[in-house]
Amino acid sequence: MSIAGTAGAAALGYATVIERNWFVLREQQVPVLPRGAAPLRVLHISDLHLTPGRHRLMAFARSLASLEPDLVVNTGDSIASPVAIEPLIETLGPLLERPGVFVYGSNDLYSPKPKNPARYLWRTSAGEHEQDEPDLPWEKLGEELAAKGWLDLSNRRGRLVAGDLDIAFAGVHDSHTYRDRYDQVAGEADPSADLRIGLLHSPEPRVLDQFAADGYDLLLAGHTHGGQLRVPGFGALVTNCGIDRGRVRGLSMHPQAAPPDGRTAWLHVSAGLGTSPWAPARFACRPEATLLTLVPRTSR
Ligand SMILES: [Fe+2]
Repeated sequence: MSIAGTAGAAALGYATVIERNWFVLREQQVPVLPRGAAPLRVLHISDLHLTPGRHRLMAFARSLASLEPDLVVNTGDSIASPVAIEPLIETLGPLLERPGVFVYGSNDLYSPKPKNPARYLWRTSAGEHEQDEPDLPWEKLGEELAAKGWLDLSNRRGRLVAGDLDIAFAGVHDSHTYRDRYDQVAGEADPSADLRIGLLHSPEPRVLDQFAADGYDLLLAGHTHGGQLRVPGFGALVTNCGIDRGRVRGLSMHPQAAPPDGRTAWLHVSAGLGTSPWAPARFACRPEATLLTLVPRTSR
């Protein structure tokens, strides 16, 4: 084998065997609470794409319960197999006893299929399933999570108390396959709540704009996998959605500049914990969960 071939095989082995299982807990502070409020610890998980054989992923996700977060947020793509619901519920374990909210991602509805990953370089996968009937038990997934007490925010509003805070939520169904119906949750976010959180799977600007305009303080999304295969020193090649490459993971503002008399919200995009079984690689983009510590705003 040539030197280039050997290096390529080594990189592929690293991306599929090592980094794909090299989970990290990222921690981030977000100054979004009213003055004087006690910090709120929010565990943001996303994109587990769980199949029953992913024992290291399940062990890492299970270990997150020891953080004892005040609130757990799951922004979708939880399963990648019709038999993954039971392992998922087992994996989440004690986290399901905590206040929690979730929305669906496209991969909760449709089984993963072999595709050429390079196609993401010239197009997104949005719309690929528009004509298809879902073949995964996504409604059962939602019922199981809801039976444990988590709020389904797919095209719904919700409300719960976490820590000392009364939180108003709204979310949309999968925004990657156009199942989002913002009109069903539209309107001013309740100003009497201590905090307003918006949830969506894919961080599509058309939805983010509406959440921000309606006064949601913090928007949480996943889907991008942080680019999944990143070029060191350059970052993500693609985002597979409408967001720009610079905000493909982590914390930013949306819109980035406040419109005149308009509002901006904090946006957190999780790079997620899993991968499609047909693209089982991560490079320069470790699989992650995030512990967001919400603290009081410094102004406003
Ligand atoms: Fe995903």
